[in-house]
Amino acid sequence: MKVLVTGGLGFIGSHTVVELQNKGFEVVIIDDCSNSDENVLYGIKAITGKKPLFEKLDLKEKHKVEDFFQRYQDVAGVIHFAASKAVGESVEKPLLYYENNIGTLVYILKELCRKNKASFIFSSSCTVYGQADKMPITEDAPVKVAESPYGNTKQMGEEIIADTCKVTPSLNAIALRYFNPMGAHPSGEIGELPIGVPQNLVPFITQTGIGLRDQLSVFGDDYPTPDGTCIRDYIYVVDLAKAHVVALERLMNGKNESNFEVFNVGTGTGSSVLEAIKSFEKVSGRKLNYKIVDRRPGDITSAYADTTKANKVLGWKAEYTLEEAMNYAWIWEQKIRD
Ligand code: WQD
Repeated sequence: MKVLVTGGLGFIGSHTVVELQNKGFEVVIIDDCSNSDENVLYGIKAITGKKPLFEKLDLKEKHKVEDFFQRYQDVAGVIHFAASKAVGESVEKPLLYYENNIGTLVYILKELCRKNKASFIFSSSCTVYGQADKMPITEDAPVKVAESPYGNTKQMGEEIIADTCKVTPSLNAIALRYFNPMGAHPSGEIGELPIGVPQNLVPFITQTGIGLRDQLSVFGDDYPTPDGTCIRDYIYVVDLAKAHVVALERLMNGKNESNFEVFNVGTGTGSSVLEAIKSFEKVSGRKLNYKIVDRRPGDITSAYADTTKANKVLGWKAEYTLEEAMNYAWIWEQKIRD
């Protein structure tokens, strides 16, 4: 079975390619390398023994997308990661985000609608829930007004897929709503490669730990949580990658109940910023230099998943703890700074 993975050189994409190849899928990657490195292909090969097919291609160029699907008529499934993902940048450059994240989604769906049968997995986000009223968050929690153009592209993306599936019975899709992905492959061959100053907590922690950053700013300790810092559901990237494979298999085997389904992908456990720091200190044996500063605008207090639906329906469950994932994030950080 040939599977197209867009954004397959990125953080979550590359780990998913590994899991797909481990399961015997033949993978072709499309990536424009705007936020990734072609050498990731060698990391994937080192782990799986196989270098996936790769096309450096910008999905905004509609005729190139059409041409790709002409040449690869045997693509039976698509896992669509390619997207811009910096929340702050999306506020500054909304049209860039709508073009990158929505335009490209439309072009791919158009091609899939031409097929007799197609499976499509979409990278969505827990950001669609905003600050949910109840914890843990179930899939039927209301989708709140998006806080940023980035968040909006995930909400709109889901709506575009739902509308398309309604009128296209041959198209089967699943949106996976990720909580906070983190970590790196246990082999140390692939991991997160943030460009510039990391926006996310875990790469900022490991970069501070290794001395690349002076200090971690903890954004607020006056939230209504047990230790005052925000709570998130940190999901190990290999667990997350495996969720994509089981979701794709569900569609390919015709096990889905409707042709558009949505699943939360998290651990079900919330951890605070201070707990994440403690877990780093434990696995690294180093003290982390951090300082409590003001809240970051737009941050929600708490978000963690109810994973019952994914557990029961997909038969998928996160296997790794925050500490294990942090350990792999730390091994990776040390390796790339060598
Ligand atoms: C985590 C916690 C910060 C950095 C992002 C995306 C969102 C989603 C998940 C993808 C928060 C605190 C962080 C730092 C800190 N998924 N923090 N100091 O904000 O939950 O969400 O990932 O689509 O869309 O925005 O993740 O890693 O930025 O923050 O104190 O230097 O760490 O306040 O509580 P977030 P994050």
